[in-house]
Amino acid sequence: MIDRNITKTFEYVDGISIDTDMLCKSVEEIQSLGLQSTWKQKERQTFNLDKAYVYNSQTSVYDQFEVQKDVIDAITPQLDFDCHPDFIRYQVIRRGIPKHTDAKRYGVINYLINAGGDFVYTHWYDDNDNIIETQIVEENSWYKMRTDIDHRIIGMTSDRLMLSISLMDWNW
Ligand SMILES: [Fe+2]
Repeated sequence: MIDRNITKTFEYVDGISIDTDMLCKSVEEIQSLGLQSTWKQKERQTFNLDKAYVYNSQTSVYDQFEVQKDVIDAITPQLDFDCHPDFIRYQVIRRGIPKHTDAKRYGVINYLINAGGDFVYTHWYDDNDNIIETQIVEENSWYKMRTDIDHRIIGMTSDRLMLSISLMDWNW
């Protein structure tokens, strides 16, 4: 079982086991199953992208997609909190994603399906723009990370794909 507490900027976690053959390994595979993007225009704007920016699922620096019901059903019993199925998504990150603080989530529980390169760094920053933590997250691992402070991912050479469980304050 895994809880919803974020006590470190980053930490690997045990406690969720899943047959990884169930997971999509690419955006193409996600789309071939008819799973839809769930990243809304309003949330896209929180990244302060160019106003002329037009969403394209092949090039968007960030995207979220629905997850197969059998995957959600395998995960939620292993969480020790009530997790709405809509809070479990495939998350795609591409080169060019700016440093940002997430709009609604204080943290995430992620499973990294594809790192998007051999040396993909995640940096976290304090209020003075100093890097306070750096990680090269290992593929095929579960981890928790803070998303309520600025963070940035650099070094991607291909899509970075993960399963992401969003941790929200109760009133979201
Ligand atoms: Fe983020």
